[in-house]
Order: sequence, then C-alpha cells, then structure tokens
Amino acid sequence: MLRRLAPNQPESFAFTPANLAWAEGQISKYPEGRQASAIIPLLWRAQEQEGWLSRPAIEEVARMLDLAYIRALEVATFYFMFQLHPVGNVAHIQICGTTTCMICGAEDLVAVCQEKIAAKPFMLSEDGKFSWEEVECLGACANAPMAQIGKDYYEDLTAENFVAILDKLAAGTVPKPGPQNGRYAAEPLSGLTSLTAYAKPDDPNNASVGLAVELGDTVKRIDGTEVPLLTPWRGVEVKAPKAAAKSKPVAEAPATDSGQDDLKLLKGVGPKLEEKLHGLGVTSFAQVAAWGPEDIADMDDKLSFKGRIERDGWVEQAKSLAEGGETEFSKRAKKADIYET
Ligand code: FES
Repeated sequence: MLRRLAPNQPESFAFTPANLAWAEGQISKYPEGRQASAIIPLLWRAQEQEGWLSRPAIEEVARMLDLAYIRALEVATFYFMFQLHPVGNVAHIQICGTTTCMICGAEDLVAVCQEKIAAKPFMLSEDGKFSWEEVECLGACANAPMAQIGKDYYEDLTAENFVAILDKLAAGTVPKPGPQNGRYAAEPLSGLTSLTAYAKPDDPNNASVGLAVELGDTVKRIDGTEVPLLTPWRGVEVKAPKAAAKSKPVAEAPATDSGQDDLKLLKGVGPKLEEKLHGLGVTSFAQVAAWGPEDIADMDDKLSFKGRIERDGWVEQAKSLAEGGETEFSKRAKKADIYET
C-alpha cells in the first residue's frame, strides 16, 4: 500500500507544554547518543495530540531528536498505526478484514462503513466525525468479526450491532467494548465446557473490558488532563544542579517585577525543565536573554540537553518575552492553559 503524506498540510506543529514535558521524559529514558530511540513514542504523542500525523509534526519530532527529516519520515510512513491524513474527529474505525473475520462477516462491516461513513477508506464522513479503513488481523480471531475503535476492540460484531455502535458514538456516547453478543470473552457461544471453576458469573466484564470501562478513554484524545509520565530518574538529576546553583548562578540579570517568570512559555521548556532551571537560580526571561555562549554551554551541560538551548532559540525567545512581547509558542501555550501548578 502506498503511504503518502496528505496534500494539505498545516503551517506548523508544536507540542503543548504538557506534551512537551512528556516528550522530554521519554527522551530522557535513553542513554546519551541514543535519543533517536524515542521516535515512535514522540510521533505517537504528536498523533494523539492532533488526531493524525502532519508533515510539520514529523519534522518537529526529527528536530527534537537531532535526526534528518527523512529518518523520521521513514518511520512515520512505514508503520500503519501512524495516520498520515486527517481522520474522523470522533473515531477512526479499523475493520479487520483477514481470513477469520472475512469468513465471519467482515465484508458486511465494510459495507456499513461505506454506507454510513464514506465510500472509500480514509475518507472523512460528511460531518467529519468518522473515517474507516480495513486492517490486517488484530489478534482477536476467536471473536471475529471485529473492529478496533480508538484504543479498544469491539468483537462478535454483526452489521446490526455495528450500526448501533456507530450511532451511539455519533450521539456522543461510548458503547462498552468487547464481545457484543453476550459472550464473556472468547469461550464457546454455548458456554464454558472446561475451566468452569474460573467462570465469573457475577462479573459482566472480562479483564480487558473492565479496564477499558475504568479508563474511559476508548475514543478520548489527549487533552492535557492525563496523568503525567513519571520519570523518577530525572528527579534524581534535578538535585545535583540545585546544589551547584548556590555557588554559581548562571546569569546575574535581575528577575522581573514579580521575581519569577513562567519559563514554560519558552518553547522547549516543560514543567520539569522549569523546575531544573529554578534549581539553577534561573527564574526570569531576562536572565535567559542575557546568556552568552559560555552560559549556554554551561547550561547545556547541567541540563543534559546538548544543543537544545540553541536549537530551540531560548535566548531569542526570552529576549522578546522579557520585553513584554509574545512568541508564536507563548501565545499557543497561554491559550492551551494546561500547565500543572
Ligand atoms: S482475523 Fe480478524 S482478528 Fe484475526
């Protein structure tokens, strides 16, 4: 299958401050020189943020990882989980069309998609809510035919119950994932014939369905309310510069009136990095704006982000923010207003 980038692309892409902090956490998992290993989680997060993967998003991830654009493009176009065109804003439906599902009725499900969503895969429905595609075996063959909708599986589908699922999603509710014909899991339709001691007649949900219901994020997109990624190894890093900061503040420029600026308005600075900067005695845009090459090299060292300060243009951004101006990123960050406080 030919996988090309969408012909209409947005002008730019930027991670939200919370997602940027998350991405920094991912990058910090890998040893020095191996940061490129974070490419899949970062591309995935970009897709989760926007719904699909645009060219500017792919290029931004490449830039963050010091990769040639073509390297990130190779990954994005190789893996089918990356959507290179806009998808439905409620859900992108993935119908399994491999042998078991095909024999059990996948073609009926495709016909429903063609009628209710769009004639061809990857086309948006008229209201923009849905899109669909046919995919290879999703590993739930015992519950064929099935479809992945968002993060969860809907199994034992028929044209009728699939139509009902789409209608509910269009109306803003999320039907319970899992088997749709009353089966608990993948046992025979007539009931368990073995392992009967493990039957759970009082529990309506198997473990996967139970977790899906508990998490409630079947078709939910990232919106900044997620539990932040825990990176305790970065917490350990924070302590060392804090002690060093007492003996040598990096820049002596005075802080602003309030004494402390929101450093997360600098593109490339998330909550964790801001905490580190505070630990190093850097609390204002004016201080960052005053950094010369030596300060930058020193901070690069302390923050373990080689070249990051220059790459993201912290000094230029800080100059404009210190003068009361705005940057494209600061406008977006203020609008998103999703900082953890
Ligand atoms: S054939 Fe459809 S899940 Fe395996």
